[in-house]
Order: sequence, then structure tokens, then C-alpha cells
Amino acid sequence: MLPFLTAVKSSVGKKFLMAITGLFWVFFLIVHLAGNLALLSGNGDFYNKYSHFLMSLGELLYVMEFLLLAFILTHIFSGVSVALGKMRARPQNYDVQKDLGGKSRKTVSASTMIYSGLLLLIFLVVHISHFKYQVGVDREYFTIINGTRMHDLYQLVYDAFGNLWYMLGYEVIMILVFSHLRHGFWSAFQSLGINHPRWSPVINTLGVVLASVIGFGFLILPLYIHFIGGR
Ligand code: HEM
Repeated sequence: MLPFLTAVKSSVGKKFLMAITGLFWVFFLIVHLAGNLALLSGNGDFYNKYSHFLMSLGELLYVMEFLLLAFILTHIFSGVSVALGKMRARPQNYDVQKDLGGKSRKTVSASTMIYSGLLLLIFLVVHISHFKYQVGVDREYFTIINGTRMHDLYQLVYDAFGNLWYMLGYEVIMILVFSHLRHGFWSAFQSLGINHPRWSPVINTLGVVLASVIGFGFLILPLYIHFIGGR
């Protein structure tokens, strides 16, 4: 236990935890996007039955939700801790951002990770409160399909994105999702020690492709629902 705690307290240990927990969330995002693409089907029953099925998983769903929460908290704790460590080590760098060139990746995504991450945290609280717990929603969203009463999540999401400002707010956040993943995926592999002159360019390209697919996928959902699906 003691060697584990010592490892976790070190910068390398924190980066390792950040990488593992981040990659788990990437996996969740792929599954979440795939499920939400059902919103484009125009068939509310299909989407509602899918989310009702997820809820019927019971304990399995609770385990998944517990892991999501534990992993995001670990990710945030290690991320903030590493960022503060860097800030203390070289405070002068926050006045002048140098282009380090070569193998270090000083892209906009890389230098704004802590900010995009913290904004995504605020987004998550608002997102889950609204879509999962329906906080502040002024009417009940329920439907009956084949005699089973279930949440009408389809209508809830369509009503939310029917509002132009709400939809635009989501678009901004989805760009942040892209930005965070674009650097995060590459960085996770570096932290896991998968750093080879031959593989690093492949991992970087894979990171860009994955971030683009997830970012673009989430980006088109609110746009489609607002401009096409809701008509
Ligand atoms: C347009 C994009 C998105 C849509 C339409 C959407 C839709 C939804 C809906 C309807 C729920 C409630 C599911 C339920 O109660 O069964 C939900 C939950 C959730 N969403 Fe999203 N989502 C989007 C983007 C995101 C993004 C980008 C993230 C993460 C950065 C995210 C993370 C979550 C999480 C963690 C939950 C709670 C899952 C659970 O506890 O079972 N979502 N989302």
C-alpha cells in the first residue's frame, strides 16, 4: 500500500492516473456518442427504449456510474495537482509562452488543458443535472411504450436544443471536448511510456482522428436537432 501511495504522490504517478482515467472516459464518450446518435433517427420510441434499457441494467449501471465518478475525480485531482506543480516549478513561463518546437507539443489544445478541463467539469454538472436528474425542468417528461412507462428523454433533449442559445452553448462546449481530447489522447500515451519515434506520429494522428470523430459527432447532434430534426 505504501509504495502505491508514494507512486501516486509523485508527478509520474499522477500523470499515469490521469492517463488511465482519461482513456476510460474516452471509451465512455465513444459509447455515449454511439447511443446518442439514435437521436438522429427521428424515432423517439427507439431512443427512449434504448435509455430505458440502460436504466434497467440496475446494479451494473450503478457500478458504471460509480467508476465514472471515481475516475473523473481522480482525473481532476491529478490534473490540477500536476498543473499546480508545473506552475510552482516555473512561474515565469506564464508571462511568456515559448514555442518549444521539436517533440514537445505546445499547441493551443495543450496549453489550455487545465481551462478546457475545468469548463468541462462545470458542463458535466449542468448536463447531468438537466438530462439525467431533470433539475429545473418545469414539466414531467414521461411516455408509455408498449404498456411500459418510461422517461421521455428524446423530447427532453429536443426541447432543450430547440432553444437557440442553449444549442449554441452546447456547440462551444463540444469544441472544448474536441480540444481536450486532441491533446489528451496523445499525452496519455506519453504518460504511459508509449513513446517511440516510430509510434508517436501514429498515436498523434490517431488522437486527432478520434478527437475529431467524437467532437464532430457531438457537435452535429444539437445542430441537427435545432435546424432539421425538430421541424
Ligand atoms: C450533444 C451532446 C450530448 C447529448 C445529446 C447527451 C445526452 C445525454 C442524456 C440524454 C443523458 C441522460 C441519460 C439517462 O438519464 O439515461 C446524458 C447523461 C450523461 N452524459 Fe451526455 N450527452 C451529450 C454530451 C456529453 C458529453 C460531451 C459528455 C462528457 C464530456 C457527457 C457525459 C454524460 C454523463 C457522464 C452522463 C451521465 C451518465 C449516467 O449517469 O448514466 N455527455 N447525456
